[in-house]
Amino acid sequence: MSYDLVVIGTGPGGYVCAIRAAQLGLKTAVVEKRAAHGGTCLNVGCIPSKALLHASEAFEDASKHFADLGIDVGTPKLDLKKMMTFKQDGVDGNTKGVEFLLKKNGIDAYRGTGRLAGAGRVEVLSEDGANQMLETKNVVIATGSDVTRLPGVTIDERIVVSSTGALELETVPGKLLIIGAGVIGLELGSVWRRLGSEVTVVEYLDRILPGMDGEVGKQFQRILGKQGISFKLSSKVTGVEVKDGSASVTVEPAAGGEAEVLQADVVLVAIGRVPYTEGLGLETVGVQVDNKGRIQTDSHYATNVTGIYAIGDVIAGPMLAHKAEDEGVAVAELLAGQAGHVNYGVIPNVVYTFPEVASVGKTEEELKKDGIAYNAGKFPFTANGRAKVNHTTDGFVKILADAKSDRVLGVHIVGADAGNLIAEVAVAMEFGASAEDVARTCHAHPTLTEAVKEAALAVGKRAIHI
Ligand code: FAD
Ligand code: NAI
Repeated sequence: MSYDLVVIGTGPGGYVCAIRAAQLGLKTAVVEKRAAHGGTCLNVGCIPSKALLHASEAFEDASKHFADLGIDVGTPKLDLKKMMTFKQDGVDGNTKGVEFLLKKNGIDAYRGTGRLAGAGRVEVLSEDGANQMLETKNVVIATGSDVTRLPGVTIDERIVVSSTGALELETVPGKLLIIGAGVIGLELGSVWRRLGSEVTVVEYLDRILPGMDGEVGKQFQRILGKQGISFKLSSKVTGVEVKDGSASVTVEPAAGGEAEVLQADVVLVAIGRVPYTEGLGLETVGVQVDNKGRIQTDSHYATNVTGIYAIGDVIAGPMLAHKAEDEGVAVAELLAGQAGHVNYGVIPNVVYTFPEVASVGKTEEELKKDGIAYNAGKFPFTANGRAKVNHTTDGFVKILADAKSDRVLGVHIVGADAGNLIAEVAVAMEFGASAEDVARTCHAHPTLTEAVKEAALAVGKRAIHI
């Protein structure tokens, strides 16, 4: 078979790229080795984790908050098996949706491992040994990422688990120890705490969510602490021993010192992800990778080998589904002769806990490091009417704007629905808005979005409700 484009991997980067390419008239095929399309995101990432976050939040609401609203449901009983079925239904619905979209757009889908087999050739290695060779003008590699392993710690996906195992536990662990206070640790830690686990998070650095705004990290840690999650910061795990169905975890201060041993029923290793290129045959055609194993590309996603491109988690940049999707669209448009482009300065980042954490653009730390003078406007949800009436007053909106031009440079939100609230400022930033532009935009009352408007007003020291 001969194609204009063969995409290897049908995660959010790959399948979106294939659809956009087909829309633009390119004869397109995808190769995927998983049983279902959708990649990490739909099968073992964004979608199942959000399903469990939603269900466990409802369970906690019914257990702890309904009574305050005058709703007496007694003590709710957890049916974990059913909750897992709810999660799987969501996954299946989404993966089937991708299958439908590929068909609808006339894209040929091959099941198997894609391997670069020389210029313009991709070999599909099927499990049943029926290999096929595809001829193609262009290849987009969208093979995503895999779990980072901790040296000396074996992930068995039962007692020592990665995010994949943590999304499939058959019982609620009494004690869950999480290594890494990043996005996965805090989201999945929240799920299992709500369902009854005692959760301890061990983090190497002296803060949670490194890379996010420092003030956000501090306040969010306090909130999670109040919810019952314990943190051991500036600490490293030096060993995990599994015996008789539980784990003994050796933890030391990061700077060195006396070790302690913590017992856990389940240990979640969540220390990041690494690009995945196994079996791809990069060396066969000489595609270059950097020192972190990421495929090197130029600003048009082209590798050093003519006709081979790469996008998503397998290249540099934040490992986020929407970043992969936008790169998929951009490279398809570039291949079709259009001007595909991704603005890396405006990529929202959301942690789907309760409250949520959302950010876009520069943090205060980055602005200080870059020597950019800025004004900060901050508004707490305690002063927002809707948050007050809903009893969801934890958190704040912070807007950072250029001191001279007032242009919005970064926005950081801790609060209920922060993931949706961040969208308006992302659009504003794409349009080069000033804080005053946001402040002068009429926001519906009573909504949480009024906190965004008030934070924008606060940049000019004229917030109304504080
Ligand atoms: P992937 O989604 O990893 O897809 C790559 C695909 O390529 C896979 O299906 C793989 O089987 C296939 N493949 C690999 N090699 C080959 C080969 N040689 N031949 C054929 N097929 C191959 N991001 C968010 O934005 N929001 C979230 O809420 C979020 N939650 C997450 C929760 C968890 C627990 C995890 C682990 C990740 C989460 N992410 C989230 C990150 C997100 O999943 C990734 O950024 C995203 O999936 C990357 O998309 P991708 O297309 O680059 O790769
Ligand atoms: P992460 O990079 O977010 O966090 C890893 C954490 O582990 C960091 O705080 C790091 O300092 C710490 N760490 C590293 N080595 C350690 C060690 N030896 N001991 C203790 N702590 C250590 O990675 P995470 O949480 O695994 O997530 C992987 C990727 O998946 C992220 O890059 C994220 O972009 C993506 N993701 C996105 C989600 C979202 O958008 N809501 C949800 C889940 C994952």
